[in-house]
Amino acid sequence: MINRPRRLRRTAGIRALCRETRLSPSMLVCPVFIREGSNIIEDIASMPGQKRYSPDTFPRRLEEIASAGVASVLLFGIPEHKDERGSGAWNEKGAVQQALRRGKELFPELTLIGDVCLCEYTSHGHCGVLNGCSVDNDPTLELLAKTAVSQARAGADIVAPSDMMDGRVGAIRAALDQAGFDETIIFSYAAKYSSAFYGPFREAAGSVPSFGDRQSYQMSPGNVREAVKEVELDIAEGADMVIVKPGLPCLDIISAVKEVTSVPIGAYSVSGEYAMTKSAAANGWIDEDSVVGETALSLARAGADVIVSYFSLELARMIREGKL
Ligand code: PBG
Repeated sequence: MINRPRRLRRTAGIRALCRETRLSPSMLVCPVFIREGSNIIEDIASMPGQKRYSPDTFPRRLEEIASAGVASVLLFGIPEHKDERGSGAWNEKGAVQQALRRGKELFPELTLIGDVCLCEYTSHGHCGVLNGCSVDNDPTLELLAKTAVSQARAGADIVAPSDMMDGRVGAIRAALDQAGFDETIIFSYAAKYSSAFYGPFREAAGSVPSFGDRQSYQMSPGNVREAVKEVELDIAEGADMVIVKPGLPCLDIISAVKEVTSVPIGAYSVSGEYAMTKSAAANGWIDEDSVVGETALSLARAGADVIVSYFSLELARMIREGKL
């Protein structure tokens, strides 16, 4: 037989030699939840294995992340007090700002990314300010811009707006430049779907909306051309990198975005994906490592250059052990 595709599958060495998609620890971003307070390391019930850290215990987590060979970290803040406008988001002494300062001081070689959104900081849990019952786009932009500048000032190399307000990338770019942070990168959650897969995160970060849902600002899962439009608009406004989110449900979105842009694309494998994998593995229904590896490979195969995953440390280990 002339064609025997199985020749290239005969040994582990040949399979590795001919692999089309390769993963590297340098493409991984590890999310971390930062809570206000001190001396806190607490479990997150909906995300077994993930924890909330206070700014003073955060360096311990950074130590684990760095020694696993993961070099990028995405920070989410959980404030003690919330208000209508989410003012904790741009508090210079906020948990994320403190964590960024410490992190940059102790681990200058790591890339620190701040998630820019108001939902963890607003009393109503929405990603922008309210006008009656609707989320008011334009007045929110200034608050997001202030948040991004305060994170840049605290040491963020990258800011990642995840709110899905129109025009926020442009507003953030202008504010960063005006404050002298022209080198701060914007990693925009350009195509963020309104997804039930964020459920465990909202428990972790205490950001469940007190009424309604996020469908008036996050995208409908039925759409793909709209994702391309969102990405194009964000790049035109100054996004240096873009995120597609969630991960596994959006493989087609990642590849559609890859077709039309040349900026680095991140895939965010979200909390629901993590929780499903963990719970099925805990029941013995799937093999955790194999599923985690296959998921990351699928995201990279679809076109992701960067993978944001709660399994980053496990992925780095598997890559190091030659299992991936
Ligand atoms: C903040 C934000 C969310 C996530 C990332 N940034 C929650 C949401 O939009 O409800 C989800 C992350 C995850 O589920 O892992 N807006």
